Amino acid sequence: MTDRPILMFDSGIGGLTVLREARVLMPERRFVYVADDAAFPYGAWEEPALKARILDLFGRLLERFDPEISVIPCNTASTLVIDALRQAFPGHPFVGTVPAIKPAAERTRSGLVSVLATPGTVKRQYTRDLITQWATKCHVRLVGSDRLAQMAETYMRDGFVDEQAVKDEIAPCFIEQDDRRTDIVVLACTHYPFLVNRMRKTAPWPVDWIDPAEAIARRALSLLNGSRGRRDDAGPDIAVFTSKRTDFATRRLMQGFGLAVEGT
Ligand code: DGL
Repeated sequence: MTDRPILMFDSGIGGLTVLREARVLMPERRFVYVADDAAFPYGAWEEPALKARILDLFGRLLERFDPEISVIPCNTASTLVIDALRQAFPGHPFVGTVPAIKPAAERTRSGLVSVLATPGTVKRQYTRDLITQWATKCHVRLVGSDRLAQMAETYMRDGFVDEQAVKDEIAPCFIEQDDRRTDIVVLACTHYPFLVNRMRKTAPWPVDWIDPAEAIARRALSLLNGSRGRRDDAGPDIAVFTSKRTDFATRRLMQGFGLAVEGT
């Protein structure tokens, strides 16, 4: 039995798409959800500065919450710092996330796959290496979106989404070549599954949308080696926002996910 929580880290609310899967698989565990909203969006950061920021932040988070394991569902963060985090904090287990290029390459029939991600993830060497390693037989198009993560943030708080803007952002994912068409779009940003229904609705033709949330949660479960958490007297799951400024809509959203916002 342990009261040590599972820490989940994202630039914003995107990691909630993974938290909800993790809760299904590990209902007895306690979670601390950390949103580095003071630095949102990660997609626009220069790599060295973002790397230094996340490493510094983790030093403090690990000390403060003493998690049993840390999950970084955020692709933009993970593709940049997961190796550095493992080096900086040896002995602490980290579950990272990388764009689901391998499963997409295995599943595509047309050979045309698109990866929808933040501009940061698209330009990472890590992402390019995944393509070389797993998808040389496919044509992989990397599509960086400047707007979708923020649109998901707004949608989840206010319920508003501009469908035309979703349509415009996903349009470059759809390629027709000879008589073949893109048949898989990898959602390589935690925020995007929140908008997937609008994506389906505005897509020019049906495709498979790959959301890695469940796979990430399964990986975390497998690393816990069967140790069980104890919830009853362990206090509520909490959400921490690095800006320390949460408005009503944010607190209501967190409440909906069973998270008490720390400091409010
Ligand atoms: N949620 C993040 C990801 O999975 C990125 C969003 C952002 O901060 O730009 O990549």
